[in-house]
Amino acid sequence: MSRLNELFTRNKEWAESITKEQPDFFQELGKQQTPKYLWIGCSDSRVPENQIMGLTPGDIFVHRNIANVVVHSDLNILSVIQYAVEVLKITDIIVCGHYGCGGVKACLSTDDNGFIGNWLQNIDDVYRLHKKELSQMEEEQKIDRLCELNVKEQVINVCKSTIVQKAWKENQEVNVHALIYDIHDGILKDLDTNISSLQELEEFCD
Ligand code: CO
Repeated sequence: MSRLNELFTRNKEWAESITKEQPDFFQELGKQQTPKYLWIGCSDSRVPENQIMGLTPGDIFVHRNIANVVVHSDLNILSVIQYAVEVLKITDIIVCGHYGCGGVKACLSTDDNGFIGNWLQNIDDVYRLHKKELSQMEEEQKIDRLCELNVKEQVINVCKSTIVQKAWKENQEVNVHALIYDIHDGILKDLDTNISSLQELEEFCD
């Protein structure tokens, strides 16, 4: 008996329930994927992008890592962005953080985070940029604000990637959005940062 039996059972039930409603669902989906969105989110198990937006398989292309960080030397995320923009021709990239993010919390603590501290260093940089505003806040508020600021900073990193820069120069439509999810009420919030061109990026960074 496999340790994963429960998962296989659940999977079978799930596939059957979909086929019952839409008999050709998997056959159609098997032909190609045409997702509308690229989602860059946190690995946190409480933020499953498909479920929180009521989407089905095929709707969204996904990259998740701890604290939804976009690093210019990360081959993994750059490959995802390139495939999304150049092959799938996705027009909307969503960077989504979440309040109470463990990665952001760990970054603010004085504990030794071991190896993962190297990754969280990227958030340290965001903290440094906004130190003046953040240092005046209470701990809880500080964490949530840094979660928001981190998303906005990662949006800039997406926009500055060679892939998005190239797309804009060639007049390909790419819109990059900053969202944050509240794990306490399940609600997704727009951080009112939507960048769609080199000029908008310049204005935003001013
Ligand atoms: Co998180």
